[in-house]
Order: sequence, then structure tokens, then C-alpha cells
Amino acid sequence: MGRYVIILAAGKGTRMKSKLHKVLHSVAGKAMVEHVLDAAMKINPNEIITVVGHGAQVVKEKIGERSSFAVQEEQLGTGHAVLQSKSFLSGKTGETLIINGDTPLLTAETLQTLFDFHCKSKASATVLTAKVEDPTGYGRILRDETGAVQKIVEQKDVTAEEARLKEINTGVYVVGNEHLFSALAKLDINNAQGELYLTDIIGILKSEGKVVSASQMSCFEESLGVNDRFALAQANRILCERINRFHMANGVTLLDPASTYIESDVEIGQDTVIEGNVSIKGKTKIGSEVFIGAGSEIVNSVLKDRTKVLRSVIEESILHEEADVGPFAYLRSKAELGKNVHVGNFVEIKAAKLGERTKAGHLAYVGNVDIGREVNLGAGVIFVNYDGKNKFQSQIDDYAFIGSNSDIVSPVHIGKNAIVAAGSTINENVPEDCLAMGRARQVNKDGYAKRYNHYRQDE
Ligand code: UD1
Ligand code: CA
Repeated sequence: MGRYVIILAAGKGTRMKSKLHKVLHSVAGKAMVEHVLDAAMKINPNEIITVVGHGAQVVKEKIGERSSFAVQEEQLGTGHAVLQSKSFLSGKTGETLIINGDTPLLTAETLQTLFDFHCKSKASATVLTAKVEDPTGYGRILRDETGAVQKIVEQKDVTAEEARLKEINTGVYVVGNEHLFSALAKLDINNAQGELYLTDIIGILKSEGKVVSASQMSCFEESLGVNDRFALAQANRILCERINRFHMANGVTLLDPASTYIESDVEIGQDTVIEGNVSIKGKTKIGSEVFIGAGSEIVNSVLKDRTKVLRSVIEESILHEEADVGPFAYLRSKAELGKNVHVGNFVEIKAAKLGERTKAGHLAYVGNVDIGREVNLGAGVIFVNYDGKNKFQSQIDDYAFIGSNSDIVSPVHIGKNAIVAAGSTINENVPEDCLAMGRARQVNKDGYAKRYNHYRQDE
């Protein structure tokens, strides 16, 4: 028997007050609809159909090949949205999970449990419900004296009495395909919003004498539907807590989890220690026994085992084992630090490779250069890599020593074991084993200080 998933993602999301289409808003660094898709994929369906409309193109791009797409040209309600998947599913026997694209916290386990419950109860349709203190905004679940589900009533259609019901519709259902499309054909727009409500299929199937069931989940938080920025903030907090707990359970120390922001796709190895006020974003991969000090931000980077970062910003870069960075360094993208490299305070690195044990201890700009192993860059070394139009690349070979306050005017090649004297401006290649001095000679003028130094004192 087939197992299918429909994700509803065509709505505009008016309540978000945003140019960005609702289901593309991020929760813990990932679009809401992608969270839903991730969970749906884990239950191994034969096919996933995402219904798109507003922002269809961007949503399609985000999801890519992971789903088929049905287009809902006009947003006439959630029932109408599901109808758009008819050409994909109506001929196929099986059960279909329907889920809103704005419920990013629902887990695959919950979806699997619902599926199992539905199949066991041999129902035509099963709705996932939750009990909640403040049900405002959600559809309410109406049950009869025996506890059997009768129908779902939307917030805008409730009577005063129904409004007090605390069991809500989470917007997740499993429905047998034939029942689904026969019920959808009977929907009407006689409701407060003049829309085709998907929720009405429950009442329709029930009135036809079919078995309809409801599965109540214990944790309401998971079913949070994000309609506005308040719920978005709530979803972010809940998901971040979940992510942090996951890493701690895996052996990562978070010294102040409440102020540590780790996005969904980040991987972290055992015995890594992360201080407070740290953000780790994108597809970052952190090894074991890494230390990340307070105030650091790491984006789309790889930090291998035993690396150390103090109060620094690292973007799109790689740190090999035992490299250490900071405090106050900025790896501005495509920096690759070899094993045991040391990058100290106020050093900026961009599109540069530093070989094993190379050091840039203080105050340097290192851009567009390939540096060998055990090279020393003194304080104030600047790679002059840009003429206002083009970028130029330099190369520095193993064991070279670049004295403080030198300008390396790219493109140049500094050979193995070479020395650049402090304060040099280097605009020609320096061969292996050479000492290059690119600076004016010092002149001492006798007695001049007597004339010009107003601070001087005769003891
Ligand atoms: C919906 C349910 C409500 C439930 C709540 C759970 C209906 C009528 N109501 O309300 O019972 O408690 O979810 O979160 O289903 N969409 C489309 N096309 C449309 C309209 C909506 O694709 O024409 C999509 C939206 O993009 C969204 C999802 O369907 O992802 C739900 O729509 P939304 O307007 O957020 O419904 P709610 O008012 O939250
Ligand atoms: Ca919603």
C-alpha cells in the first residue's frame, strides 16, 4: 500500500507582514517548509507533493528535487490546496499524510506514530490533535459524549461555547486516498472565510458513517503553527533548545545554553566546549575537543579536532587540527589554516591558505595568498592584493620570515627560507634564501633634535 505526503505551502502568510513568503522564514537557520520536508522524508513516503502558489518559484528552488509540486493558482483555502494534488494521487491506493508548511517543530517520530495509529484504527481519516491552554487561532476539535470526533470548527466560525474547547487541530492528518478525494469534492464555502476548508473533510466523512479518529499528542509545543512573528520567535526558541539538548546529550559542553545559538544542520563532536554568546550557523562541522570562546560566530565552516577559537568571526573557512584563532580575528571566507597554525588578534584572512605551523600573531591583512609551512608573518604585515579593479595572488614558500610592518604588493613570490626585513615594501619576487630589504636607509642628523624637539630637557 502506498504512503504519500502532501505539504501545504501556497498561502501568502499575510499575518507575517513580510515580503518573504511565509514558509520560507527560517527557524534555527532553515526554512520552515524544509523542516516539514525533512520530517516527512524520514517516514519514507513513496512520493511527496508540495502545493505551491505564493512565491512558488522560490519555494520550488528551496525544495528542489526532494518533492513534486502542485500549483494552486488562487488561494481558496486549505481544502482547495489539497485538491490541486488530485492528478498526482487520485488514482493511487494508499494513505496520505497532509501537513501544513508552517509547523516546523513536528518531528518524524510524531508523524510515524500518527501513521501507525491511523492504520491500526482502520480509520478513513485521522487528525492529529493537541490540548492547549490558549487555543486562540486554531481549529477546535468537537467530540460527542462517547469521545468520538465529530468535526473541526475553525476559529472564525466557533460559537462562544466551542471557543472554550482546548483541544485543537494541529493541521496534520492521515487520510485514505479514495476517502480524501470523495470528501474534498463535497466541500463548500459556507463559512466565515468563504474558503474551502480541509478541516471539513472530518465532518463529511463522519456524517457518511465512516470511521474517523483523532490522535492527541502529549506535547503541544511541537505542533506550534507559525502565523506571525511572535510564533516565529517562539518556534526559534523551542527548536534552539531542542538542538542544544541534542548536542549536550551527544557529549558537547555548553557553558550557557540559553545564549548559544546553533542552527539545525551544524555537527559537533564529543568533548567540545562552547562558551556563552556563541552563534554557529549554516553547514558548520565542528570536531572533537574543540574550544569556542564567548562571543564567537562561526558560519559554514569546518573546525577540525582540538582547534581553538577565541572571540572571533569565522566564515566559509577551514581550520585543520589544533589550529588556533583569536581573540578578535576575522576569517572572512575561503581561509584554510593548516595544522597548528596560529592566528592572533586583529588579523583578517581572506582567500588564503596558511601551511602547517605558520603564524600570523597580530595585526595583519592576509588576502589572496598561498603560504607554506612554518612561515612567520610579523605584526602589521599587509598583503596589498587589490588595485581598485583586480585582485592579485601571491605565494610564500616554507620557512620564510616576513618582518613586521611589511607590505607585500601582489603578485609576488617569496622563496623558501627567505627573509623580508621589517618595514619593507616588496613588489618584486624574493628568491630562496635571500634577505630582501625594501625600505629607505636611515639617516641620523647630528644636533637637529636640539632645534626641533620641544619636549627635550637637558638633565
Ligand atoms: C489551519 C487549520 C486549523 C489548524 C491550523 C494548525 C484550516 C482551514 N485550518 O489554520 O484548523 O488549527 O492550521 O496550524 O485548514 N495554504 C495553502 N493554500 C491556501 C491556504 C493555505 O497552501 O489556499 C497553506 C498555507 O501556506 C499554510 C497551511 O496551508 O502552510 C495552513 O494555512 P493557514 O492559513 O496558516 O491556516 P491556519 O489559519 O493556521
Ligand atoms: Ca497556520
